[in-house]
Amino acid sequence: MPQWLKNASFYEIYPQSFYDSNGDGIGDINGITQKLDYVKGCGFNALWLNPCYLSPFLDAGYDVQDYTKVAPRYGTNEDLYKLFDEAHKRGMHVILDLVPGHTSVKHPWFVESARAEKNKYSDYYVWTNEVWQKPAPYSWVAGMSERDGCYLLNFFNAQPALNFGFNRIDHPDWQIPYTDDRVKPVFEEILSVMRFWLDRGCDGFRVDMAASLVKNDDGHEATASLWRKARKMLDEQYPQAVMISEWSRPLEALNKAGFHCDFLLNDYKKFSYYAFRRVEGGKNKSYFCKSAHVTAKNMLKTYLPDVYGSWGNGYVSVISGNHDTARIAHTLDESELKLAYTFILTQPGVPFFYYGDEIAMRYLPQVSKEGGYNRTGARTPMQWNSSEKNLGFSTAEREKLYLDVDRSADAPCVEQQLQKQDSLLNTVKALNALRAANDDLLADGELSQVTALDNGTLFYKRGKNTYVAFNPKDKAAVVPLKLGKVLFCIGKATPRGDKTLLSAQTAVVFTK
Ligand code: NOJ
Repeated sequence: MPQWLKNASFYEIYPQSFYDSNGDGIGDINGITQKLDYVKGCGFNALWLNPCYLSPFLDAGYDVQDYTKVAPRYGTNEDLYKLFDEAHKRGMHVILDLVPGHTSVKHPWFVESARAEKNKYSDYYVWTNEVWQKPAPYSWVAGMSERDGCYLLNFFNAQPALNFGFNRIDHPDWQIPYTDDRVKPVFEEILSVMRFWLDRGCDGFRVDMAASLVKNDDGHEATASLWRKARKMLDEQYPQAVMISEWSRPLEALNKAGFHCDFLLNDYKKFSYYAFRRVEGGKNKSYFCKSAHVTAKNMLKTYLPDVYGSWGNGYVSVISGNHDTARIAHTLDESELKLAYTFILTQPGVPFFYYGDEIAMRYLPQVSKEGGYNRTGARTPMQWNSSEKNLGFSTAEREKLYLDVDRSADAPCVEQQLQKQDSLLNTVKALNALRAANDDLLADGELSQVTALDNGTLFYKRGKNTYVAFNPKDKAAVVPLKLGKVLFCIGKATPRGDKTLLSAQTAVVFTK
């Protein structure tokens, strides 16, 4: 297990939208490097960059055309190596997005695979034997190639699935077993992409759709066996490199597949949905909402089994959000976010913040860009300063921007929040500082005594002697804990003998 993960606090950057250093209207790698001190100043010590490789951008870069070349719109490979270097100088780590399940239709492997004549790449993708054959339950594209057959999709039409074989074989004429030599080179290619970046200073990967590799793989056993190979390679050759899965099932990803961390995504009726996202009839009713309808018990129902069931095998990653869903500020207001972020940053595991969530950037629904559709509203440019052109994101003319910035008069911005002592941004800074300074709050610090009361409060113990208590509701409530030394407080906590009175919307971290 890489040591640095123990006190890692991650910041996800969508490179298109972070900072445009050359005035062409789109964010770039040098822009990220220029803003490293900002990210570090917020207390984040690790970055995850969404795909920044050569791509036709039909899915914002998740359609990779060349795994080892930075897209010219973001800069050069040298710019990225410099980012690794500058981050390391600041004690920070950088992970890239690895997209192993599919490529772009423009990837040279696919171009070759689609040829009628058999060649080295024919089996790199999953093809049926004739164009009329499109068996359920999978999605296929027919009629786009010289080759007679349909290609299997992993996501959009321009993202053909790489061929890691099948676990259960129902069509022996074209399905290849995952253990067959014909598909082995494909995972070897992925391993060599990993080595390419690790050899150049990258610290690991967020792995896109990590569970999607082997098909007809119901319990994901076969897919897990591939990832264990990747983990073995890291353990032997790059022991400080991390792999973090987009899987959202820690019991599989951490226990079986060997990932170091697994995201808990906003899956319907799972933890994040109940904690931060539940919307009904236009109103948020999640646990951290002051008029919550979700109880802490319900919120924790899928969370605690995931955390405890994978304990010791890797870390669960709670996220503020990501580039695939409406922003968290769509469902929680600033006062609610302060409590939600206190929860995220006092949990075990490795927390992830999506750029802009630290200032409560809004979800701004708009016309789809690069396959974003309803996700586009969560991908708008970072808001640095309200007094600068395009909120400081870019000096380009408005119509040249990748996506327009939030033009509302009260759009939240970094500069303004830095000046306000109790701003959301300064709260995030304080929480990251608290986490960094307290061994009890490290990724593997024990989580115990988790208690949800009928009065809406929630509390737990971290490590040897750190307690965290919440009252997200709009009226005061008592918790049966004696208040000791307060390390951090939002709202107000007042000792009441052996108990503590928590004012409306309070979160308190203390020792006994
Ligand atoms: C998950 C990514 O987060 C998403 O943005 C992308 O569209 C799909 N995987 C396909 O790669």
